[in-house]
Amino acid sequence: MPEADESKKEKNFFTEIPQKSELFFLKGSNNYDWGMKNRLSRIFNPVSGKTVMLAFDHGYFQGPTTGLERIDLSILPLAPYADALMLTRGILRSIIPPSTQKAIVMRASGGPSILKELSNEHVAVDMEDAIRMNVSAVAVQVFVGGEHETQSVNNMTRLVDAGMRVGIPVLGVTAVGTTMARDARYMRLATRMCAELGAAFVKTYYVPGFETVAASCPVPVVIAGGKKLPELEALTMAHHAIQDGASGVDMGRNIFQSDDPVSMLEAVRKVVHAGIKPAEAFELYQSLKNGKK
Ligand code: 5RP
Repeated sequence: MPEADESKKEKNFFTEIPQKSELFFLKGSNNYDWGMKNRLSRIFNPVSGKTVMLAFDHGYFQGPTTGLERIDLSILPLAPYADALMLTRGILRSIIPPSTQKAIVMRASGGPSILKELSNEHVAVDMEDAIRMNVSAVAVQVFVGGEHETQSVNNMTRLVDAGMRVGIPVLGVTAVGTTMARDARYMRLATRMCAELGAAFVKTYYVPGFETVAASCPVPVVIAGGKKLPELEALTMAHHAIQDGASGVDMGRNIFQSDDPVSMLEAVRKVVHAGIKPAEAFELYQSLKNGKK
């Protein structure tokens, strides 16, 4: 039993100060429950409202991608510079130290390899295991216009239902087939569908007219980096995406395939969280890189 409150000090209930009730900082996310908001706040920085996610889940369909042959050697040194790690449960359990303080965004769909029809995915992680791994979100590929469009949308809505029960947000990842136009019209359709069907945030690609994609999506949008670009181009793309309304990046190859991944990640952080311009970010990248020589 705790001891009785025997303090002689007069109680103060501050009756003249109304209790503050803050609006949640993230677009479209005000009506979630506490656990969901808390998890989103681990991914998105509540001060800048943005995130730098490091994506290295590529192996789930394409095996040891260039730069990811040894995740213990190439990715672990980058982790301190990211806000969130996007990965598979196999890599989480085999390589990521459980002492990490980073938000985990867990790839939760999969099935076909690069040798087969990629849209034929199924849910690949049970929500119970996602809880066991203490993830901040689960990610699911959505193939709008793809051969298995409905199945992939159904994967997402099942994860949304399961996630809602336990307060785990779902990231809808728009997967553009090789034969589809990667334009704003397609991205508006795909991102909006993900949001309407319950994704808490959506990952897509930066395209001309991106401001219409971000504006018409009622939840935060983050961009993938896509194929490796020269560093200045990748920083320019990230800058434009942020200026046009993206809430962050979920970048893989443009970080881990860079000549200097840590310096690149630090430069991307400045673009995303501090809004610096591409030329300044590239200068930072070069000076960090050269400072190591
Ligand atoms: C696979 C993914 C990857 O995480 C994504 O493509 C990010 O990596 P990159 O910046 O290399 O494109 O979602 O579908």
